[in-house]
Amino acid sequence: MSEKSRYLCQSCGFVSPKWLGRCPDCGSWNSLVEEITSGSRSAAARASANPDALPVPLSAISADDAPRIPTGSVEFDRVLGGGLVPGSVVLLGGDPGIGKTTLLLDYLGRLAAARSAQVLYCSGEESPRQIKLRADRIGLSTERLIVFSQNSLEPVLAEIRQLRPMAVVVDSIQTLTTAALESTAGSISQVREVASQLIAVAKRLEIPIFLVGHVTKDGTLAGPRVLEHMVDTVLYFEGENTRDFRILRAVKNRFGSTNEIGVFEMGDGGLREVLNPSRLFLREDRRELAGSVVTASVEGTRPFLVEVQALCAHSSFATPKRGCSGTDAGRLSMLIAILEKKLGLVLSDQDVYLNLAGGIRVVEPAADLAIALAVFSSFRNAVVDPETVVFGEVGLTGEVRGISNPEARVKEAAKLGFRTCLLPQGNVPRITGLDCAIAIRGVASLADAIDLLG
Ligand code: TYD
Ligand code: MG
Repeated sequence: MSEKSRYLCQSCGFVSPKWLGRCPDCGSWNSLVEEITSGSRSAAARASANPDALPVPLSAISADDAPRIPTGSVEFDRVLGGGLVPGSVVLLGGDPGIGKTTLLLDYLGRLAAARSAQVLYCSGEESPRQIKLRADRIGLSTERLIVFSQNSLEPVLAEIRQLRPMAVVVDSIQTLTTAALESTAGSISQVREVASQLIAVAKRLEIPIFLVGHVTKDGTLAGPRVLEHMVDTVLYFEGENTRDFRILRAVKNRFGSTNEIGVFEMGDGGLREVLNPSRLFLREDRRELAGSVVTASVEGTRPFLVEVQALCAHSSFATPKRGCSGTDAGRLSMLIAILEKKLGLVLSDQDVYLNLAGGIRVVEPAADLAIALAVFSSFRNAVVDPETVVFGEVGLTGEVRGISNPEARVKEAAKLGFRTCLLPQGNVPRITGLDCAIAIRGVASLADAIDLLG
């Protein structure tokens, strides 16, 4: 067999016949690594070649929706687009320790128990004993959870063919290697090869496969960006290690919307679904406090309420400080500039801090009005009614612009017992058929909003 050597960029997959210091494709330095391939065609190419496939007219293909297997978790299903799709390949990324293993073990373990079918859990990271301890900790019935501690792809493929499980987890894709390539585990060509063979098997046997992927420091899936193009669905599991709540987010989904999020809480007994996320991001009591404003944000089809807190304090620095957590610092600066220019507030000698309660991140402009009002409220030490929910985008001239999904936000506010909703005038006509008692007050500008609160 002929041996060939080539150089692969570990961050984008660019191939070069000779070594280069900088990848001409993605610009990363020192990312090209030599890989030796034996033979001229990859095993994956051989595995996925289907000599029987024929071109067919599109009209001859049934357009029935792919059947879904509900996982039993409302949150997980929502992010997947309505449940597991047979033959689909889902890549789950996230920081180490965020709960990827716990999530898959928990929900797939329960699915296996509920359906009396087997789930194959291939782990290259943890020993079967460690997995057993974890399963016990989350109170999982483990008879139908088949654990396979394996670092080599070929036995995994053989096991999938033989066992025909209802779902497979590969935790993680970077620990699996194929004998067809000589490069090291986790290198881009290994990861790509292993993934394409698993994808071929998933499609052929119609078994859903989850691939767990590590995330690098800059937040992208380690090495294989290419992997994101190959799989059907890419999910990220995010959250802060210091907080208990976790968000599962779809960034690519061939079977559903990518805007959806699922919210979970990590506790002693594993993950718990959070069906009412507003609870996490609001204070329990609704006392009157200057600098606090409640806003309504939407992720996908999902509205939730968040408390925005601002603090203005006299600065002892020549350049006042601006601290911002949970939203974009540039947006805060812009809103401060608008408050100064349009409302005559003097904030140039004030340190301004902004925080979104609960550690959630909201970057949509719909939070602008609440942020501006929170800063105003703290600066003037004037309370904004704690029974009011505020949302709207603020433009550079101080106008309040309409935003998407106003009804969903108003309904969520009403559901949680808020009495008033301050929203863009332009959105008011869209609020129809509201069968709940909440006062709707449209505003056209930031000045209007402040007058109303005055
Ligand atoms: P894990 O699923 O191992 O993360 P990943 O696979 O993404 O690396 O999660 C491990 C973390 O979760 C660890 O810090 C402990 C915590 N944890 C709990 O708090 N409660 C639990 O019941 C379990 C199983 C884990
Ligand atoms: Mg893990």
